[in-house]
Amino acid sequence: MRVLSGIQPSGSLHLGNYLAMMKPMISYMDRSQLFVFIVNYHAMTSVTDAARLAYGTLEAASDFLALGLNPDRAIFWVQSDVPEVVELAWILTCITPMGLLERCHSYKDKISKGISPNHGLFAYPVLMAADILLYQANVVPVGKDQKQHIEVTRDIAIKFNSAYGDTFVVPEGEINDQVATVPGLDGQKMSKSYGNTIEIFLDEKNLKKKVMSIKTDSIAVDDPKDPETCNLFQIYRQFAPLDRVEDVRNLYVSGGASYGVIKKELFEILWETFRGPRLEREKLLKDDGYLRGILAEGARKARAAGTPTIEDVRKKVGVRY
Ligand code: ADP
Ligand code: TRP
Repeated sequence: MRVLSGIQPSGSLHLGNYLAMMKPMISYMDRSQLFVFIVNYHAMTSVTDAARLAYGTLEAASDFLALGLNPDRAIFWVQSDVPEVVELAWILTCITPMGLLERCHSYKDKISKGISPNHGLFAYPVLMAADILLYQANVVPVGKDQKQHIEVTRDIAIKFNSAYGDTFVVPEGEINDQVATVPGLDGQKMSKSYGNTIEIFLDEKNLKKKVMSIKTDSIAVDDPKDPETCNLFQIYRQFAPLDRVEDVRNLYVSGGASYGVIKKELFEILWETFRGPRLEREKLLKDDGYLRGILAEGARKARAAGTPTIEDVRKKVGVRY
């Protein structure tokens, strides 16, 4: 079974990215053929500073490796190192109905947040479909915000298969309900584009500052509170040991939960959880020759995996003459 997912190097990676995508992908290492990549072409829809995009790509790659992705047990590369994906995206664009893209929430959300509506942003789901279909992925683990994009991918695959004959695996999205939408500091979805993130690799002072600024209500310590609607608790429960989560949940329900105390504890837990990866990441970024070597090898393997598909597609659509 092929499991594939990508992440944009559009800013420092955060706890939402970690819980919904990076952690599950890393846990797939032993069970599947794993394809993990940094989608720098997608990030171009929002990042226009070349140096920022280039360095962000290396940072995102080092984050993944530092968190435990083993490049010997996964194909790990940068999207633009396999240019066939852009060729496939154009071919898929030609069979994608406008209406399918016009219905995409992510495009509408981004525009309503003030991001300028370029064509890349509109065509984004087609490039994502090409990413998935080129490698014939079976399963795509993502957060809930990407559900519609996986449906678009499925629609495009089905349409192509019925027009030109069986070509693509029709993939399944995989969304873990527990972390489908990790809330940010303000309670909205944590996202690089909303400025409400807790980054995985902040320094000590800034991590503490961010955790202490998680928005909570003004219910008094001794009064009962609903843990399910509290974004602090939603983040806390992902990282604290199970017995602590139950203790704190009981304090919410029966009264006695102090947001300040829970935030301090959450900060300590996060700082400890990412201590080893933090050191590893520093090492990787210092020696970017090693990192570049891993990415080049990953691109070679990814290209080999995608070549039979693009060759088949070229013949089927008639651009091999
Ligand atoms: P962002 O929205 O911060 O730009 P990306 O678009 O690069 O992040 O998302 C990478 C992966 O992380 C995707 O699978 C996405 O669904 C997931 N993801 C991002 N933010 C969250 C969140 N707050 N909760 C759950 N999953 C998330
Ligand atoms: N659109 C995804 C996101 O913003 C990133 C992405 C690009 C992706 N191509 C992909 C995810 C292929 C899974 C599979 O998070």
